[in-house]
Amino acid sequence: MEKFEDSQDAMARVALLRTQIEHHNELYHTQDAPEIPDADFDVLLVELRRLEAEHPDLVTSDSPTQQVGASTINTFAEVVHQLPMMSLDNAFDTDELTAWADRVRRRLGDEASEPAWVCELKFDGLAVSLRYEDGVLVQAATRGNGKVGEDVTPNVRTIAGIPQELALGAPPVLEVRGEVYMGLQAFADLNARQAAAEEKTFVNPRNTAAGSLRQKDAKVTATRNLSFWAYALGEMIDGPTLASHHEMLTWLGTLGFPVNQKTKRFENFSAVIDHVNHVEKIRHDLDYEIDGVVVKVDALGLQTGLGSTARAPRWAMAYKLPPEERTTTLLDIEVSIGAGGQATPFARLEPVFVGGSTIAAATLHNADQVAVKDVRPGDTVIVRKAGDVIPEVVGPVLADRPASRKPWRFPTECPTCGVALVRPEGEAATFCPNHACPAQVRGRLEHFVSRGAMDIEGFGEQRVDLFVTEGLLSDVSGIFMLDFDRIAAFEGFGELSLNNLSAAIETAKQKPLGRLLFGLRIPHVGTTVADLIADACGDLDGLERATQEDLEAVEGLGPIIAASVYGWLRLDHNQELLQRLRVAGLNLNAPQASGDQQEQTLEGFSVVVTGTLETMSRSDAKAAILVRGGKSPGSVSKATTALVAGAGGGSKLGKAETLGVPVLNEIQFVELLATGQLPA
Ligand code: IVH
Repeated sequence: MEKFEDSQDAMARVALLRTQIEHHNELYHTQDAPEIPDADFDVLLVELRRLEAEHPDLVTSDSPTQQVGASTINTFAEVVHQLPMMSLDNAFDTDELTAWADRVRRRLGDEASEPAWVCELKFDGLAVSLRYEDGVLVQAATRGNGKVGEDVTPNVRTIAGIPQELALGAPPVLEVRGEVYMGLQAFADLNARQAAAEEKTFVNPRNTAAGSLRQKDAKVTATRNLSFWAYALGEMIDGPTLASHHEMLTWLGTLGFPVNQKTKRFENFSAVIDHVNHVEKIRHDLDYEIDGVVVKVDALGLQTGLGSTARAPRWAMAYKLPPEERTTTLLDIEVSIGAGGQATPFARLEPVFVGGSTIAAATLHNADQVAVKDVRPGDTVIVRKAGDVIPEVVGPVLADRPASRKPWRFPTECPTCGVALVRPEGEAATFCPNHACPAQVRGRLEHFVSRGAMDIEGFGEQRVDLFVTEGLLSDVSGIFMLDFDRIAAFEGFGELSLNNLSAAIETAKQKPLGRLLFGLRIPHVGTTVADLIADACGDLDGLERATQEDLEAVEGLGPIIAASVYGWLRLDHNQELLQRLRVAGLNLNAPQASGDQQEQTLEGFSVVVTGTLETMSRSDAKAAILVRGGKSPGSVSKATTALVAGAGGGSKLGKAETLGVPVLNEIQFVELLATGQLPA
């Protein structure tokens, strides 16, 4: 970050940052239409704070660092908060969080014992304050600038989870604060309804929740299925004496407020650190979005002692999870040619850290998607990467685009071989029609050697590239006829490495027919279908003899797959390829072609596999299920018998738990295969 020697420069930068921050505050809090992701906003605020710390003479009481939210309020009646609605300070890593805990301990005095901490999720919605008089909801307000908010009472009354009346024992005046949010299912349903009505879909649940709450017509809010979590108190008259934050949450629960069950209390801070790391891993298993963990000092007496700054309490800290949306520069749009000839446009990006990793490229899918998003080289774009989902360019920041920038045009020729690209009528995809296009050859080879296919160890992308460039390989059969004398002359190929490569290729020759069929990239043939075909036909000769009707009759294959396989086998270059593979001595049999049929232990069972298993690949696990008469679909449903979960199994685990589907580890899976019995 820049360091300003000259206080004139610092003053100018501070002024610019304040203008930008106020602009984005207004867009976020008042218009519910931010131009930039929260993480980019945080970067501006952090820089302003740092400059103000370095130049205390520049601090002013109206600086955004001293304020909460936006100052402009319109449309709704004003509500003056009896107690200010504060913001939270942020920690962007565990060191900052630990430094905050140290500050807390110092303020409490060295002689004080370690305070207890409460960790709540940081829900990504908007804060509201609910006022109850004699147990009846009389007013609901947004946070606004922290001192004055907006009256959204009619809108809040439409939220099913917010009690209109409290259980007996509620004090005469009670203000409960918490977050209104839109759950992921509600968001998906809303977008499905929008799409069905050919209306614009919404970008993310947080802005949609904010926009839905701040509707002039509460009937619109009522259709948006908003939810609420309570997490704080405002004004309270004649309430019970509460000693701690967690006691307060329990009490709010008894009064009828939704309180989040993932809240945890810890006696020492190392457990807090473990917990925030844990939340980072499970954030995508939740059915609502969070952007961090709020750590609070539990004892209310200690909270009072610690007090607040102008903006935020000293007794709480928001630990921010790595951002999932950032802005960056779209350097260029390029087109890559896949193994099947598909021409896919992708964004080349100024590298940006988002969703836990640095992203320098993101697919733009097809020509229509580029047109819909209207992203242009040079644009500032919003990039999103959430969990296992592939990185996505959400759209351009139009405010940053000069008027002269022209829309991007899809190329007319293949960038690799120069042959004219074609877009079949009615299809979204564009293709390079040249089967010999070097990009396609590389793609087919990379797929063939990959883990799910022939799984040839030591045969990665780089080696494929080298062998193709050096003219040693032009199709997958060439792998089994490689000229090892020539390879020995290349850099990085010592005796051991050559022996290993040769052994891996020999092993691959013995892979069952299903793997080979999958490796050949026949359109519509994934691992499961490949195994079904192999099992049904027994061997390659049987497959070549099969008519289209025979293939269609195989359970699990429809007319589209049957036509695709039948047609593929009849193309001359594929016939020649299969002949070369025969000559190379590959195993062309399905595992059970020898006659001893596997015991059908899994007949009628539906077993889903997720994550990385230790002793077998996922496709081997699926094949093992299929040959025992079971099914192995790609997703968990009520009909699933069991979920086999290896390392890193993400959202499927959460779904299985929700639906009560048994989750098996690898040992239990092997037992299930052998016995057809689920563990007790
Ligand atoms: S406590 C005085 N707890 O985060 C402290 N806030 O960035 C008041 N938020 O304005 C806030 N989850 O809208 C608190 N468990 C949680 C929260 C939470 C989300 C929001 C809230 C607040 C913002 C500050």
